[in-house]
Amino acid sequence: MDKAGPIGVFDSGYGGLTVLKELVRTMPQYDFLYLGDNARAPYGPRSFESIYEFTLQGVKHLFEEGCSLVVLACNTASAEALRTIQQKDLPIIAPNKRVLGVLRPTTEEVESYTKSGEIGIMGTQGTVRSRSYVIEIEKFFPEIIVHQQACPMWVSLVENCELEGPGATHYVKKYLEELMSKSAHIDAIFLACTHYPLLYQLIRQEVSPSVGIYSQAEIVAPKLITYLQRHLEIDALCLKNGDLAFLTTDNAETFQEKARLFFGRELQAKRIKL
Ligand code: DGL
Repeated sequence: MDKAGPIGVFDSGYGGLTVLKELVRTMPQYDFLYLGDNARAPYGPRSFESIYEFTLQGVKHLFEEGCSLVVLACNTASAEALRTIQQKDLPIIAPNKRVLGVLRPTTEEVESYTKSGEIGIMGTQGTVRSRSYVIEIEKFFPEIIVHQQACPMWVSLVENCELEGPGATHYVKKYLEELMSKSAHIDAIFLACTHYPLLYQLIRQEVSPSVGIYSQAEIVAPKLITYLQRHLEIDALCLKNGDLAFLTTDNAETFQEKARLFFGRELQAKRIKL
């Protein structure tokens, strides 16, 4: 019989904290264990093979720490690694454990955010290259036209706390202009990288008020609650003491300092090796 443990939340670095924050706000009774693979972030420009390998290592580590449920709070990992982990690895390494992503919950909801039927997906090179959003949205809403835009510099801006100033503004403008030049009918932009909400203020300034800009945390958190209500056997394996813990593959002090800025509270982190 598996023992109960925290819900694991995985990201390449700090981006998943935007999801964790909302999970903690809406599910405060649960225990969460966050793992940021900061030493190897960003994942976006890496090959499919590396993203899969790194993500699997992260998931295995969270399993070893006692998690029975892991949320990949990272679109790049969700797009490039989740399916293989669910279909190939889990049945062998941990048939009773579950790994969920952020991509599917988002694609299920996009229709309610657009009137024109044309949306923008802003993501990392890995997410865009995988075409996962285009493929998944096509399954649910074949009439919706999806315009993708890779934003290679945005994760680096966030990881380096460059959230304002002329450099950040330049790159925020650049990718938004590229996206908006693809169609005048885009009325909803999805920040399909969990790092991007940290650039929200800048992004909002550069886009017409008639275009909605949506982050995933608000979509993913209620979906996770519903998932646990539907899967009581998994819910029973999730500890509910309201505890929070943080792991990073890089320097723990640096993580604590930056994560405090993004997460909005003091925290203790431990360095681990994957
Ligand atoms: N936060 C991630 C995502 O949602 C990862 C970005 C990266 O490491 O490139 O895609």
